[in-house]
Formats: sequence, C-alpha cells, structure tokens
Amino acid sequence: MAGTAHRTTGVEGVENTTVETVEDTTAEGVASTTVDGVEGGVGLTALMVAAARAIETHHHDSLAQDVYAEHFVRAAPASADWPVRIQHATDGDANPLWGRFARYFGLRTRVLDDFLLRSVHTRGARQVVLLGAGLDTRAFRLEWPPGCVIFEIDREGVLAFKHTVLDGLSATPKAARVPIPVDLRADWVAALTAAGFDTAAPSVWLAEGLLFYLPNAAETYLIDTVDRLSTPGSALAFEVKIEKDLMEYRDSPLYTATKHQIGIDLLHLFNREPRPDSAGHLADRGWATSVHTPFDFTHRHGRGPLPEQNDALAGNRWVFADKSRP
Ligand SMILES: C[S@@+](CC[C@H](N)C(=O)[O-])C[C@H]1O[C@@H](n2cnc3c(N)ncnc32)[C@H](O)[C@@H]1O
Repeated sequence: MAGTAHRTTGVEGVENTTVETVEDTTAEGVASTTVDGVEGGVGLTALMVAAARAIETHHHDSLAQDVYAEHFVRAAPASADWPVRIQHATDGDANPLWGRFARYFGLRTRVLDDFLLRSVHTRGARQVVLLGAGLDTRAFRLEWPPGCVIFEIDREGVLAFKHTVLDGLSATPKAARVPIPVDLRADWVAALTAAGFDTAAPSVWLAEGLLFYLPNAAETYLIDTVDRLSTPGSALAFEVKIEKDLMEYRDSPLYTATKHQIGIDLLHLFNREPRPDSAGHLADRGWATSVHTPFDFTHRHGRGPLPEQNDALAGNRWVFADKSRP
C-alpha cells in the first residue's frame, strides 16, 4: 500500500506508534477515505448492515430486534429504496444479499449482543467501547446494568448522520452514551481517554465488521491498544477474515449481488494487505481466546447462514478474548 507513515502519541507513555495515515493512494484507500459519511465509501456499509438488521427485525423468527435500523435506511438518499423487509427483496430469502448476507448480519448482531450483555453482567465491567460503531443502536436497544457507559467510535460524518436520525425519533439511550468522532487510523486513544474512558477499570470492547477495512498497522495498533487499556477482567470480541487471498471469492454470489444490487464493492473497500494474527497476538499477551466460524452459531441458534460453494463468508471468524484476572 502506498500510504505514508505517521507519528502519533500512543497511551501510557508509549510514544511514536506508527500507523498508516489516510493519505494512501491505492484504490481501496481512496474509496474508504474520501467520503466521511454514510453516502459512500466504507460508511455506506453501515447502511447495508442497518438494512440487514431491519430485515432481521421483521422476520418471524428473528434473532435480534433493532427498531431503529429501518429509519437509518429510509433517511439516507443512498439507501432510501433498499428493502427493509424480506418480502420487498427480489427473490426474497434466495437473494444472496438480502437473504443469506442479511441472515449473517442478523446472527452476528445476536451473538455480539449476547457477548456484550454477558460480559457486563458477569464481569462487572461498566464501560463498553464500540469500535467502528456505525449505526449500531445497542446503547438504545439493550438492557444495560446501572452505571454502564457506552463509547461509540466512528468517523464524524457517520456519527452525525446517526444523531440526526435518532434525534428525529427522540430515541433515549438505556445507558450513558459517549460518541467519539475519530478516525481509527489516527490516534484515537487520546480521544477515548479525553471522553472519560477509565484505564483503571475493566472494559468490554467490540470491533464488529471493522478490522478488514483497516490497514494492517492500524489493526495491530488497535489490538495492542485494547490490550494496554484493558485491566484484567476485560473482554474483547472482533471479526476477521482469514483468507490468504481475498480475491479468491470475487465471483461469489454474495460479493456480486452486493456490488450489483446496491453498488457496494466490498473487495474494493477491504484492505488488501496481509492481515496480522490478532487472535494470536492476544494469546501471546495472556488473553484466553476462542475463534469461531459464524456457522458454529447458525447451528446453535437454528438460524443463520450455512456453508456453500464459492462462499465469501468462508474465511470469516468471530474471535472472543478474555484478559485473565491474575
Ligand atoms: C460494516 S460497518 C459496521 C458498523 C457496525 N459495527 C455494525 O456492525 O453495525 C463498518 C463501520 O466501520 C467504520 N470504519 C471503517 N473504517 C474506519 C476508520 N478508519 N475509522 C473509524 N471508523 C471506521 C465505518 O464508518 C462503518 O461505520
């Protein structure tokens, strides 16, 4: 990647951490940086996930309910005519995007809802950090214990759109909610700590649908930083893709449907650098990690995607990591 190295100040005296800036000139870099809001680039993927959640919400045996999701989809000109119910999608459940891919997002939402609630209720952690939060409405949807703070990090344009829609609905969060408009390729730690994150208290972190858009160095920095900011008793869940060659599935029904039906070329948006072994790095630092395919949870919940030929989801893994207590 033709990006330039950029010096930033890390946390707790760790200085001069090198991360990639937004000045890269590769196709995927340009696509993901020139549009700050939800109308294009990587921000548009937040609307795609919202549409999937809307569809899941209206399904008779839905795994997750998000009553706000369809309002985001309707409010943005880029997505106003996308389906928010499976009955509105061409070919219904057989549609690779609004059927199978939406089921994937529905399952992912449920599994990570469960992870977050389990973590705060059983560990006593009261601060939750949603990295690349997008149009995640967990602060408004889930039953958080008293004293919980939800930090939501995403780029300014995405969070501004989110607030316009939620304000219009007079939505009320069920926990203290702290939006942090910052780019995760820059020094986001200063913004998080300035917003009140307590490095001495346990925390729960989530990077859902995020890491494959980031440069390798930004992912490594993110994982290192979560480790540094996490006291024992903290937990993290994140999603990765483990394919050696992302292009292997370029002709898959899922990628082609997403590109042709809503103009999102995921392979163009994904960062194509070799990925770091983030689960391995955390294990080396003493975290207990478990790595799952989404299909593991399809079997557990009785709903979700199953493996298929030429499957763009074949390399997706959901990683759960616990920082052990001494
Ligand atoms: C596929 S969406 C997922 C959003 C949310 N986590 C969810 O699952 O609904 C990806 C999100 O990552 C955010 N994102 C991607 N690159 C980012 C960056 N460099 N800094 C901050 N946010 C970023 C996008 O703006 C977008 O909201």
